[in-house]
Amino acid sequence: MSEVIAIANQKGGVGKTMTAVSMSACLALHGKKVLLVDFDHQGHATKGYGYLDRSKYPLSMTDAIQSVINGADINFEKLILHTSENVDLIPANITLAGIAPVLQNVMCRETVLKRMIDGIKEEYDYVLIDTNPTLGDLQINALAASDSVVIPVQSEPYGVEGMSDLLRSINETKRNLNPNLKVKGILITMTDYRTNLSRKIASDVRSCFGTHINVFKQTIPRCVAAAESTGVGQSIFVYDPKGAATKAYDTLAKEVFLDVNKEKERPRHKDTHVR
Ligand SMILES: Nc1ncnc2c1ncn2[C@@H]1O[C@H](COP(=O)(O)OP(=O)(O)OP(=O)(O)O)[C@@H](O)[C@H]1O
Ligand SMILES: [Mg+2]
Repeated sequence: MSEVIAIANQKGGVGKTMTAVSMSACLALHGKKVLLVDFDHQGHATKGYGYLDRSKYPLSMTDAIQSVINGADINFEKLILHTSENVDLIPANITLAGIAPVLQNVMCRETVLKRMIDGIKEEYDYVLIDTNPTLGDLQINALAASDSVVIPVQSEPYGVEGMSDLLRSINETKRNLNPNLKVKGILITMTDYRTNLSRKIASDVRSCFGTHINVFKQTIPRCVAAAESTGVGQSIFVYDPKGAATKAYDTLAKEVFLDVNKEKERPRHKDTHVR
């Protein structure tokens, strides 16, 4: 049984791609078969694995979506890239920006990505979807295709701004398209617990949302090497294997993704992260 997980927050720069790339690399290191679907025209997850421009791969998300729209077969063999970190990747690039207007005129436009992923997901233990920072059709497609959603929230003053819109969008998708969709949890990212501000924000997120949504006990520290890894084409598991953010993602993977019993416990502990 595969699990499809969207990493979503319409707020930009909160650590969605860092989480998608790091978690995919980590789960692969733990022996899981992982497909990372880049569903963002910025193509950051694609670049994160070293595919820096379109000449490096023959097909992309745009071709796959177009095939679903046209009722044509998808050539998964040609579409899926096998990265050096044992993560399979469906790449995306700027051409995906042209898909949103096309979707406007397509029947059942909210489930185009789901139909694509349903055709391949059983080959994998986990399918992770890195989404773009908007609340439009593309994000609804990602939510409709997923079993659960992880919401990265940056530990900064306006970090939770827009959360109510995102939660409304998740609930509407659940009600109308995907009744089994679950919020796996809110992941607090880029923490710096040396500052009172960062500690206060993490605590505010827990008190605001923790009573009705799982907020992961594990948070992700802000860390220079993590920022550096963006743009070098490697996950932090290769670039900085002993780093604090790397250890934090590893703990998150073990506690949340690889141990189902612990996931059910919904911890209410103080924030922890590895230093
Ligand atoms: N733990 C971290 N420590 C330091 N820098 C980080 C960390 N996580 C992410 N960053 C940096 O913050 C920036 C935004 O992260 P990322 O690209 O993952 O966000 P995003 O939510 O995917 O953004 P977008 O909405 O544009 O897709 C990047 O430059 C990344 O390198
Ligand atoms: Mg991103």
